[in-house]
Amino acid sequence: MTAVVVLGSANLDLVYDVERIPAPGETVLSLGFGAFPGGKGNNQAVAAARAGADTRFITALGRDGSGDRLAREARDAGITLLDRRVDAPTGTAAIFVDRRGENSIVVDSGANAALTDLTGPEREAIGAADVLVLQLETPIGTVAEAVAVAKAAGTRVVLNAAPSGEVPHHVLDGVDVLVVNEHEAADLAGPGADPMAALTGRGCAVIITLGAEGALVGLPGETPVSVPSHKVDAVDTTGAGDTFVGALAAALDGTGLEALVAATGFATAAAAIAVQRKGAVPSIPTLEEVRAFRDAR
Ligand code: RIB
Ligand code: NA
Repeated sequence: MTAVVVLGSANLDLVYDVERIPAPGETVLSLGFGAFPGGKGNNQAVAAARAGADTRFITALGRDGSGDRLAREARDAGITLLDRRVDAPTGTAAIFVDRRGENSIVVDSGANAALTDLTGPEREAIGAADVLVLQLETPIGTVAEAVAVAKAAGTRVVLNAAPSGEVPHHVLDGVDVLVVNEHEAADLAGPGADPMAALTGRGCAVIITLGAEGALVGLPGETPVSVPSHKVDAVDTTGAGDTFVGALAAALDGTGLEALVAATGFATAAAAIAVQRKGAVPSIPTLEEVRAFRDAR
């Protein structure tokens, strides 16, 4: 069993089903509403745990009902929670999902902004894991600190550079596997560059997710390999990228291109299941569900 530690955000997602995403100045009535556990870090931790990894999750929650709910549901998913309770409200995300399953999201970081200065037990958990998983919804200084701890301990680092943001050179230098969508890849690579060539040129494995088109897997000095996706009808794509990242971390076994492609195939199937269900955390499949889905294809 892979030992995964995820460091990142936890949010309560306030999800509004809408005919279409409102334009500036426009008010629309929702067709349905639900509040679900979410946050990129939380989603990725749940995905890793449901995919069978021994999973620890380092996060910051408020001392409020949302924090209690997120903690309870994370533990129910089989996660060992290393949570800090801070004097700020638990993070929230306002999410509009349209008829095609596409979304627009506004995140209020709240407690997530207080995830700074790693504690002794947090550092130990990172050092003891096989894989550390990070995103960009928590302070970048903490991401950098976690990368340094992982490097010193020989823990493999997976960075999902989402949402799009600056990644300092010393952070990217410590990343073993970079997972980005097309927009994030273009932002990180800079104008004019071929994103895959530019990013693998930084010395790490790179996976560019392409939504319904699957993913492109690249290693420095090797020809990228395309991993196809599965044809499904999307209901809600919220958290599908996170499902991909968590499932990938759980399935990572070996460092060569073949191992990466195999893990990407598993992650692609997990994400294809997630887009067919509503909500972030509630949509994330178990190992058995992913296996049954793949067997049926
Ligand atoms: O990636 C999806 C997630 O982004 C949502 O769960 C929301 O909380 C935001 O963090
Ligand atoms: Na979903």
